[in-house]
Amino acid sequence: MRLTIAALLLLSVAVLGQQPKPPAKLVFQATMGPVTFDHAAHLKRAGNCATCHPKLFVQSATAPLNYKGGMHKTAEASQTSCAFCHHTGGKAFAAAGKCAQCHIKATAKPAS
Ligand code: HEC
Ligand code: HEC
Ligand code: HEC
Repeated sequence: MRLTIAALLLLSVAVLGQQPKPPAKLVFQATMGPVTFDHAAHLKRAGNCATCHPKLFVQSATAPLNYKGGMHKTAEASQTSCAFCHHTGGKAFAAAGKCAQCHIKATAKPAS
């Protein structure tokens, strides 16, 4: 029994030690306009990794968010993914009427 606990502790230390460096920003492409997720600002407000990882998101920018267009409402109803906070009465603004706060279309072509 003791051995098992010791082994588990060692394992968790190893896993925590391998905690990958958090990204500053992640950009999700969408037809409505790309969404920039300010990971650093969100982390600061949330306080710790465990608010989001692993219960809401895996630590991979290529994993599905489960927050596609038609799912914003579904996600809000179940308070999952981004809508864990982004829902009416939540910590952050809900999707309805606030599309442009996340989907930011380029207004002008960058000079080249
Ligand atoms: C407010 C929520 C939130 C918090 C808090 C948070 N993350 Fe994330 N993190 C995300 C989201 C969203 C993604 C992208 C997931 C996806 O694309 O499926 C992500 C992705 C990542 C990735 C993958 C980056 C890549 O390029 O593949 C790493 C590494 C990561 N987070 C580390 C951390 C660490 C370490 C902490 C704590 C110091 C942390 N995160 C806190 C939301 C959060
Ligand atoms: C809290 C931020 C946020 C808000 C607010 C928001 N969206 Fe999104 N939306 C996203 C993210 C992030 C994605 C990409 C999801 C993914 O990659 O799985 C997305 C994806 C989509 C898609 C899928 C696009 C594609 O190319 O597949 C549609 C459509 C969409 N949103 C429409 C809307 C509309 C309409 C509104 C306003 C009613 C809205 N969104 C508000 C964050 C948001
Ligand atoms: C742990 C709670 C939480 C989660 C999860 C979360 N957000 Fe937020 N988000 C906030 C808070 C709090 C704010 C700032 C308050 C406000 O503006 O309503 C915010 C603000 C934003 C903003 C405005 C710019 C900024 O950073 O201040 C965008 C864009 C945004 N979130 C996108 C997303 C997307 C996309 C996801 C999912 C990948 C997501 N958020 C998940 C809490 C969260």
